[in-house]
Amino acid sequence: MKTQLEAIKTQAITELENAQNGTEIEALRVKYLGKKGELTAILKQMGGLSPEERPIMGQLVNQAKAELETLIAEKTELMKKAALEQKLKDETIDITLPAKEINKGKLHPLNTVLDDMIDIFTSMGFDVVDGPEVETDHYNFECLNVPQDHPARDMQDTFYLAENLLLRTQTSAAQIRTMENRKPPIRVICPGRVFRADEVDATHSPVFHQIEGLVVDKGITMCDLKGVLEEFAHEIYGKDTAVKFRPSFFPFTEPSVEVDVTCSECGGKGCRVCKGSGWIEILGAGMVHPNVLRSCGIDPEEYSGFAFGIGLDRLTTTRYKISDIRLLFENDKRFLEQF
Ligand code: DAH
Repeated sequence: MKTQLEAIKTQAITELENAQNGTEIEALRVKYLGKKGELTAILKQMGGLSPEERPIMGQLVNQAKAELETLIAEKTELMKKAALEQKLKDETIDITLPAKEINKGKLHPLNTVLDDMIDIFTSMGFDVVDGPEVETDHYNFECLNVPQDHPARDMQDTFYLAENLLLRTQTSAAQIRTMENRKPPIRVICPGRVFRADEVDATHSPVFHQIEGLVVDKGITMCDLKGVLEEFAHEIYGKDTAVKFRPSFFPFTEPSVEVDVTCSECGGKGCRVCKGSGWIEILGAGMVHPNVLRSCGIDPEEYSGFAFGIGLDRLTTTRYKISDIRLLFENDKRFLEQF
C-alpha cells in the first residue's frame, strides 16, 4: 500500500510539472484529491489494515495529500505570475517610437487679419456688430441713398433672391441697422461676407469680405476720419506707411474719398503689385450723407459722422504677398498650411 501511495504521489507530481494551464491543474486536483480521487481511494482501502498499521498509513496519506495541495497552490500561483508577466510584456508601449503627426487646425489668413483689425478698432473704442447676409433692397440700397437707377441695382451686379431680397453687396447695410437701433455716440465696425455677380479672376470673387466702420456723434469731422484711418494703416502696415485720400463718390457719403496706402511690397517706389504707382487702394470712406442720417431718424443739423468700408481680402493678399484672391477661397490645405 505504501508503494502504491509513493507511485501515485510520484505520478501526480510529474503530471503537475507537465500541466500547462489552470484547467489542467484543476483536472489533476480532482483526479488525485477529489472525492473520487486516487488518494481518497487509498484511504478507503485502509479497512484491510491492522489497527497498528492504520494510523501510520493514515498519516502518510494525509501527508501526501497536504504535500500535493501545497504543490498545486504553488504551481497555480506561478502560472498566474507568468501569465501576468506575459500580459505586461505584450502590452508594453515603445515610447521611443516617433509620434504620429497630428493635423492641427490653424486660423485662415483672412481670420488672422480680421482678428488684428478687430483688435485695432476695439482699442480705439469701436464695438463689433453683425448684420444679415440676406438683406432687403431697403437696407442695402434705399436707405444708403443709392438711387433706383443706380447701376449697382442691376441684376448683373447684384444677386437677387426675390424682388426686394438680395445677398448684400456691401456691409454698409449694417450702418443703417446700427443707426436704427442705437443712439449717438455710435462707434462700430461690422465685418462680414458680401456678394456680387462678378466673374472670377485673380482679383475678383463673387464672395468677398468687407469691414464697415461707422462713427456718429456731435462735431465729427473729416479730420477724425483721417486720424482713425491713419492709426489703422500704421498698425496694419507699419509706422512708415503713408495714407492718401483721393476724392471719390459714394451715394451714402459726402464728401467721399478713396484711401490709398504706400505699397507694402515696394515701399512706394512702384512695382508689379501697385502697378508702378507706389500706392494701393484699400478702402472707401466719407462723411455720412445727411440723407442717410435722416433716413435713420438722426438729425444731421445736430450730428455728423464718418463711415468707411475696408476690403479684407485685399488687405490679406497684400500682407501675405498672395498673388491670387482665389487661393483664399479654395481651401487647399497645402496653401493654408503655410500660415
Ligand atoms: N460700400 C462701399 C463699397 O462696397 C465701400 C464704402 C465706401 C463704404 C464708402 C463706406 C463708405 O462706408 O463710406 O465699395
